[in-house]
Amino acid sequence: MRPSTIGIVGAGQLGRMLALAGYPLGLRCLFLDRSPDAPGAQVAPILLGELQDAGRLAELASKSDVITFDWENVPSTVLAPLEKLTAIRPSPRALEVSQDRLHEKALFASLRIPVAAHATVDSKDDLLRAAREIGLPGVLKTRRLGYDGKGQFVIRHAEHIDAAWASIGGTGLIYEKFQVFSREVSLVGARSAAGKIVYYPLSANTHSGGVLRYSIAPYVNVALERAARRYLRKVMEALAYVGVLAIEFFIVKGKLVANEMAPRVHNSGHWTIDGCVTSQFENHLRAICDLPLGDTRALGHTVMVNFLGLMPDRERLLGIDGLAFHDYGKEPRPGRKLGHCTVVRSSPAARNLALAQTLKLIEWS
Ligand SMILES: Nc1ncnc2c1ncn2[C@@H]1O[C@H](COP(=O)(O)OP(=O)(O)OP(=O)(O)O)[C@@H](O)[C@H]1O
Ligand SMILES: [Mg+2]
Repeated sequence: MRPSTIGIVGAGQLGRMLALAGYPLGLRCLFLDRSPDAPGAQVAPILLGELQDAGRLAELASKSDVITFDWENVPSTVLAPLEKLTAIRPSPRALEVSQDRLHEKALFASLRIPVAAHATVDSKDDLLRAAREIGLPGVLKTRRLGYDGKGQFVIRHAEHIDAAWASIGGTGLIYEKFQVFSREVSLVGARSAAGKIVYYPLSANTHSGGVLRYSIAPYVNVALERAARRYLRKVMEALAYVGVLAIEFFIVKGKLVANEMAPRVHNSGHWTIDGCVTSQFENHLRAICDLPLGDTRALGHTVMVNFLGLMPDRERLLGIDGLAFHDYGKEPRPGRKLGHCTVVRSSPAARNLALAQTLKLIEWS
């Protein structure tokens, strides 16, 4: 029997967009989250509870044909017993690796995917040693639970080490060499249980303060795209991955250096809703439900701009020809991802113009 109820751990905007993609396919979603007003809960039913609560997760599993994730940080020890109740896709093992930046880098390195020089840091002495051996500038990060640049400190000079330690010092950290990149790109792909893989075009991502501001796609670079696909495939095959996986890269001296991966749909793939034949959300559902994967072809040249902290003037934005507006139904809060918009054009030049028009109407706070 094909799955018809998808249990989603976490009802954030990613879960919401998964549920919305599920409706036309006849797939029902059921969320687990803390809040009855979570973005996903506004569009599909929800079980209320903590995302790591074994009892609530078991209830979700017993009501679902397959479990998947909007939030990937559920410990694998909590997930393991659920595998007796239902399918978990991607697998607890895939989540486990991506929960820890050190394990993620070790997997990349074992597959000969280039990563930044790094060292694990559990004390200030470790940090001083890492800064000396790897060099400055560098980035001190928490190994676990970081997102949108949270739990990170850029150390540009030796005098910043004390401030970095005061800010996020402790155990379970990683120090990475700062990458002087020309661009950041990401690759999103989906793998079925039978091992078929589809890849989206590369996306070029502009961040500020550690948060994605906008993406343009396709980012056309044949050699880099080929390398990115090879890396994504290696990771997917090593993990017997099922679902959508994203890898973020820095382009350093014309080559890819892997930054991190996300075992789920990814912000840099939101453009695929309006900019591709099949969205990342639909392909994630297709993959985890053993349905044929959809066409990942781009429909044109797309820009996706995040709404951060403040919702923009909807009426003015909708005045931009062809703009697609996505409101996640969240309360505004500084830095919070509240929505995004997408514009698809027939040439890179027209896309760049649409980006400039769009940015004029969006204020980030
Ligand atoms: N080693 C590095 N060198 C240069 N810039 C970096 C480095 N690490 C992180 N950054 C910058 O900070 C951004 C956020 O870092 P990273 O992706 O590691 O964190 P995150 O909080 O997990 O982000 P998210 O989950 O939102 O993608 C990167 O996209 C990049 O712009
Ligand atoms: Mg990132």
